[in-house]
Amino acid sequence: MYFSALARTMAAAFALCASAALHAGEVEVLHYWTSGGEAKSVAELKDMMGKRGHTWKDFTVTGGGGQNAMAVLKQRVLAGNAPAAANIKGPAIQEWAELNVLTNLDAMASFEKWDEALPKVVADQMKYKGRYVAVPVNVHRVNWLWANSAVLKKAGVAALPKTYDEFFAAADKIKAAGFIPVAHGGQDWQDFTVFESVVLGVGGTALYDKALVKLDRAAMTSDEMKKSLEIFRRIKSYTDANSNGRDWNVTTEMVINGKAGFQFMGDWAKGEFLAAGQTPGKEFTCSAAPGTANAYTFNVDSFAMFQLKSWEAQKAQGYLAYLLMGKEFQEKFNLRKGSIPVRLGMNMEKFDDCAKTSSKDFVATSASGALVPSVAHGMALSSSQQAAMRAAVSEFWNNDKLSVSEAVAKLVAVSAPKQK
Ligand code: BGC
Repeated sequence: MYFSALARTMAAAFALCASAALHAGEVEVLHYWTSGGEAKSVAELKDMMGKRGHTWKDFTVTGGGGQNAMAVLKQRVLAGNAPAAANIKGPAIQEWAELNVLTNLDAMASFEKWDEALPKVVADQMKYKGRYVAVPVNVHRVNWLWANSAVLKKAGVAALPKTYDEFFAAADKIKAAGFIPVAHGGQDWQDFTVFESVVLGVGGTALYDKALVKLDRAAMTSDEMKKSLEIFRRIKSYTDANSNGRDWNVTTEMVINGKAGFQFMGDWAKGEFLAAGQTPGKEFTCSAAPGTANAYTFNVDSFAMFQLKSWEAQKAQGYLAYLLMGKEFQEKFNLRKGSIPVRLGMNMEKFDDCAKTSSKDFVATSASGALVPSVAHGMALSSSQQAAMRAAVSEFWNNDKLSVSEAVAKLVAVSAPKQK
């Protein structure tokens, strides 16, 4: 059995790696972490692999959200030349495992007690038919609103908006003061990042879960969904004319350098503020997107491990898997990435207030049931469903002539396979 042979290999590799890098190998890793903050985070990992004598081979494919990376990965795997690891998330992990190209990490997972170290919702996503095939590195919260403190002050915005009424009142003031109220990058995954936060803010986790995760027709055609689309469109009127195609990190820069007031984005944006030398609570602020303080859209970056032929490469891969779940990596990486450790029971002392809030809210929402998977970031739907939903939402964002009812009809049509 290929699986059990691999399990033995992984266990042996792990035993070797844990003692010393007697036989170092090369590990090729596909990722899309190319922005300032992302590059600094991944440098921590390269450094830790290097310290054990392993060679890191970057396989980077630029493009926020990782869609480009997934397309390139497909070509490589189909050509029989898979990398050791790739940043693959959510249900896509299952899709790859079904093709029988991922390796079984169970030996290491049981030795290192991953089941106890991870929240169940995350551990389940890392497994295919009960066996670990991927390793999680973090938890990103998606439903954030970032703001430039000086811009808000100059515009006379005294408090961070908790509702959409407050948000639009603040946006008007920012506009009147001569700034761009909302920095936005017009790419489909960024459009959807804003959209899902609006749905969550308008209809709470009930609407979010029914309409966007379960693709339930009644929820999707509900008045709350229509209201969400109206608010989403209204937000667009506060963005600048050059947003089309703009990368997310270039968009964050507009908030960092005081051109814009707000950005809706996950907390990888914090990595950019930090890389620019800014401090949360001073030059910039993080707050939950309007109406979402008691909810949490999660996005877990994880590395799926591919089956490899060479023994050296398998050892390096085994060490990578071991390292990713380790406390040292989880702390160092997440301090830079903007996310929080996915490993339970980590000391959060070195983390800033945004991360502490995220960590507290992650725990609270997983207890209250208000922890929901980010659709924009591939945590809820199959790759094809997600792409279809994204396209429909972006069409609405880009085409002002499309009515709310037409947009609802499109969403219903593209999500038809999951209808009950
Ligand atoms: C990923 C992050 C990444 C961001 C921008 C998200 O989907 O989970 O790790 O920083 O996209 O590329």
